Amino acid sequence: MKILLTGSNGQLGTDIRFVSAGVHEVVAHDLDLDITDREAVARRFSEVRPDLVLNAAAYTNVDAAESDELNAYRVNALGVQNLALACQGSNTPLLHVSTDFVFSGDDSRPYTEFDRPEPRGVYGQSKYAGEQYVTSLLDRYYICRTSWLFGTGGGNFVKSIINAGRTNNRVRVVDDQTGSPTYSRDLANKLLEIIETGAYGTYHVSNSGSCTWYRFTREIFELAGVNTPVESITTGELGRPAPRPRYSVMRGLALELQGLAPMRPYPEALEDFLMRDLPSAESAEAAR
Ligand SMILES: NC(=O)c1ccc[n+]([C@@H]2O[C@H](COP(=O)([O-])OP(=O)(O)OC[C@H]3O[C@@H](n4cnc5c(N)ncnc54)[C@H](OP(=O)(O)O)[C@@H]3O)[C@@H](O)[C@H]2O)c1
Repeated sequence: MKILLTGSNGQLGTDIRFVSAGVHEVVAHDLDLDITDREAVARRFSEVRPDLVLNAAAYTNVDAAESDELNAYRVNALGVQNLALACQGSNTPLLHVSTDFVFSGDDSRPYTEFDRPEPRGVYGQSKYAGEQYVTSLLDRYYICRTSWLFGTGGGNFVKSIINAGRTNNRVRVVDDQTGSPTYSRDLANKLLEIIETGAYGTYHVSNSGSCTWYRFTREIFELAGVNTPVESITTGELGRPAPRPRYSVMRGLALELQGLAPMRPYPEALEDFLMRDLPSAESAEAAR
């Protein structure tokens, strides 16, 4: 399959390129194809003539989005509209990646694909606007919502908290937000499985299991051999600008319905990431 990939240097984009190697022909673009530029997107689409467009580009800074609403919507809504419009004429499928932040987080049971989104912050609202462009403009789409990503290809919580643990006497981490950490390589593999099905629609695609950021930190430190004390705090005490869902665990009901295997538990994925993939990515980087 020839895949036009956007956001190819991001965390997920890096792993899409990694797992597609030798399987699919990936035409990779990052900021060199600005998805907010409708003409550029249309031009590149007609040059490449892909079998599928995979959108991993996004405005992902949740806190910055609160004071930068227009730019968040430009990338997360307008950019997605541009990709959907490019796909529309030739009925080309679009796989668009979205987020658990489309949910309010007020419930205390896992959200399914059939639950109503009710995003609270600008980031979640702009991502939901992107989903709405996809569903209103296209028949052939996969909207894949994921959560709490970590991977070798970008900055993320796992890398930052290890760094904080190694350079501080203690770390303070919130214990009242619950979600499912997800390894971007596992996600990339599952997305490639989903695009083979032709079963278009919305999917929840996260590693299984859930935890709070505090518990996740304890697990990360144990695996990484960091002994720094971890203090549990509340979201209010952290005082970030953006509201965040208190509980954003998602159930992969659409995967179950399609007979696709659930993703493995996040602790197994974390162990592979910390013990195997991150060290080998870092030594390959150092050798360059
Ligand atoms: N990270 C998470 O925890 C998380 C959780 C749930 C869902 N998601 C979703 O998963 C997807 C992948 O996330 P990620 O963590 O891989 O994000 P990421 O690392 O921030 O990658 C996004 C990429 O898109 C690029 N980009 C930004 N604006 C663009 C534009 N106008 N045109 C083209 N490219 C542009 C970014 O470039 P710059 O970096 O130079 O801006 C970056 O390389 C996103 O849809 C995100 O909303 C992420």
